[in-house]
Amino acid sequence: MTSILIQGGQQLQGHVTISGAKNAALPILAASVLAAVGESRLTPVPWLNDVMVMLDLLQSLGAQVETDGVGTVFVRAHDLPGWEAPYELVNRMRASVLIMGPLLARLGRARISLPGGCAIGSRPIDLHLRGFVALGAEVKSNHGYVEASAKQLRGAHIYLDYPSVGATENIMMAATLAQGTTVLENAAAEPEIVNLAHFLNNMGARVSGFGTDRIEIQGVEHLAGAAQTIIPDRIEAATYLIAAVLGQGRVTVSPVDCSSLQAVLAKLRQAGCNIVSEQENTLTVLPTSALKAIDAQTMPYPGFPTDLQPQLLALLTQANGASLITETVFENRFQHVPELCRMGAQIRISGHQALVRGPSPLTSATVAASDLRAGAALVLAGLVANGQTTVTNAFHIDRGYEQIVEKLRALGAIIERIPD
Ligand code: UD1
Repeated sequence: MTSILIQGGQQLQGHVTISGAKNAALPILAASVLAAVGESRLTPVPWLNDVMVMLDLLQSLGAQVETDGVGTVFVRAHDLPGWEAPYELVNRMRASVLIMGPLLARLGRARISLPGGCAIGSRPIDLHLRGFVALGAEVKSNHGYVEASAKQLRGAHIYLDYPSVGATENIMMAATLAQGTTVLENAAAEPEIVNLAHFLNNMGARVSGFGTDRIEIQGVEHLAGAAQTIIPDRIEAATYLIAAVLGQGRVTVSPVDCSSLQAVLAKLRQAGCNIVSEQENTLTVLPTSALKAIDAQTMPYPGFPTDLQPQLLALLTQANGASLITETVFENRFQHVPELCRMGAQIRISGHQALVRGPSPLTSATVAASDLRAGAALVLAGLVANGQTTVTNAFHIDRGYEQIVEKLRALGAIIERIPD
């Protein structure tokens, strides 16, 4: 267990390099077991705790995994004796459930530990399972595990009640080897899904419509390993944009896909942030004279991402006026709020809304990260707090931010990691 210590009030300057997207790397790694021949070559894979768990899972299934130590992962899954994601791994990372679709498609069976509730809500997987049933699988649940089996998956017309990212990915992967055509309606359209679909097509799949709410998958007989570039992490990029705004210097962030950050940039600019794109795939933050209160609501892509709501909230503690933030994606995603209030923020929660009054001078405190993005919000608050902030349970932050301490320190932050 480690903590992150931040001495607030430093100006941030310089350049930060954005890692490959965690939420793209995880499903793409899971999809690599669909290949019965060849090798998959994935890069840049961020070196994060969640990625380690996925690599452990692939190896526990019998896949051969190698890394070159500088961000490329090679996967060969010719023999795949394993078909189970055990409790120990799903408990460490909920996204382990993404192995279910690939295993079901490749082996005709899959067994995973049911993910329990997590810090940001109950997060069921009913939509994933209903999709597998629609594809012809039998799904049974007992002793905390769920098992799906099918001699041959068959294409189907599937309507998702909600555009779940994970369900879209899992069903899309399962359908690649089904007999016939699958149409997925009300699908999620996140850039990470587009990245996954490109990988599947490079493997020989026939997926179209990705990036829209209607994805069509024509089943093929087998898939082969392929190379795939992982997109830059848009959530990490936006977190550093917010850090730079709070740091009041000139900071460039790259590589970024600006088109995937439209909603975020619109909201940050509405709040008075001075962010320009002087070069392709690069964003530059210039000092901001005064931040203004804004209202924002989290939504599935292309709306404002729930994974940036905590960081936006941290920023708005420094804005003039009252901001109303509405969380529509997860039911319990304000656990960072009491910790921000302990640092002097004025935030009131009512149901799924948070009312932030600013600007509030923040003072340092020892605060606990309850989940990945909540932890990032506390680090951001620490950058502007008066004195030394200690963010405990930093392992949550390490699940999603590669080398956050080193990257912020290179920008001029006084920050270090210490054992608890
Ligand atoms: C993914 C991201 C996560 C992000 C989230 C929403 C990964 C590894 N994680 O998570 O960082 O916060 O998208 O953008 O990519 N739901 C159901 N039944 C289901 C599935 C989901 O009710 O079967 C609900 C969830 O409880 C939640 C909402 O749908 O309220 C969105 O969840 P979903 O889009 O599935 O998120 P994840 O794929 O888990």
